[in-house]
Amino acid sequence: MNMKGGVGKTTLAVNISHVLNQEFGHRVLTIDIDPQFNATQIVYKQTDWVYILREEVHTALRIFLDEEFESIRIDGQWVQPIRFEDIEPKAVEKNWHFLPGTINLYKIELNYFKILKFKLKEYIDYLRKTKRYDFVIIDTPPTPSSWMRSAIIASDYYLMPVKPDAVSTMGISLLMRIIRELKEQENESNIELLGIVFNMCENLKDHQQQIEYLANHNLFSQYIFEHQLKKRADISAISHKETLLTDRLIYTKSSKAAKEEIVAITKELKQKLRHVR
Ligand SMILES: Nc1ncnc2c1ncn2[C@@H]1O[C@H](COP(=O)(O)OP(=O)(O)OP(=O)(O)O)[C@@H](O)[C@H]1O
Ligand SMILES: [Mg+2]
Repeated sequence: MNMKGGVGKTTLAVNISHVLNQEFGHRVLTIDIDPQFNATQIVYKQTDWVYILREEVHTALRIFLDEEFESIRIDGQWVQPIRFEDIEPKAVEKNWHFLPGTINLYKIELNYFKILKFKLKEYIDYLRKTKRYDFVIIDTPPTPSSWMRSAIIASDYYLMPVKPDAVSTMGISLLMRIIRELKEQENESNIELLGIVFNMCENLKDHQQQIEYLANHNLFSQYIFEHQLKKRADISAISHKETLLTDRLIYTKSSKAAKEEIVAITKELKQKLRHVR
């Protein structure tokens, strides 16, 4: 999570999921609850996500509709509620499953969110009981929306990607404050900051200064990830238009250096989790 747009939330959510699965052999579920569905556009080629959106099958929207809740009408069609056990995340790789986002998530936010904000937590609690996944990674929108709120209620930890420039670093305390306030309001959330990952780092004086400032900051220093992701042309050049999934992911597509960075970040995340658990 980060309030600032375009800092790499989606890039990290999808690629860390992929590395947890491919490099470390974990069973991973990635959930895209951003109505802009950027993660979905990385994981699926265009013809597939167009189909998923049109058919409204097994998207993250399903989590928010269950038997206690009436069907909702989307684009003139009734979307029927289904039980958690009938939601089928799609396998993108063996043991890496994905629940796509959809633009229709907007409609729930506008009309029904107050009664539905615990649904994601209930779904994660249901998954916990099934022991189906080792990790559930949620990609959120940047703004403090209902989606972000339901992710805060549902999650154990959040990871904060930060671009080491002055504007992005200001967003850190803002997000931490918003999460603290939501925790107080909701009284249901146990979410903790797992760490701050610098992304899009460049050899700029400003970047070095920001990293140094945060690394020495009495509140933030304990959270800073040792490993960072540099700004790289072989990451920004990854195109959603590629047909093969492996051509849309850092671990399988980018340079050796980029791959090493994303593996190191994922490994550090695992270590931090072991430490906090
Ligand atoms: N390390 C990097 N080097 C180069 N480009 C990057 C890097 N990380 C992310 N990008 C690119 O920056 C853009 C924004 O990244 P991303 O979509 O992950 O950000 P976001 O925080 O999820 O944005 P939003 O707030 O819109 O959800 C994407 O085009 C992505 O490919
Ligand atoms: Mg995003």
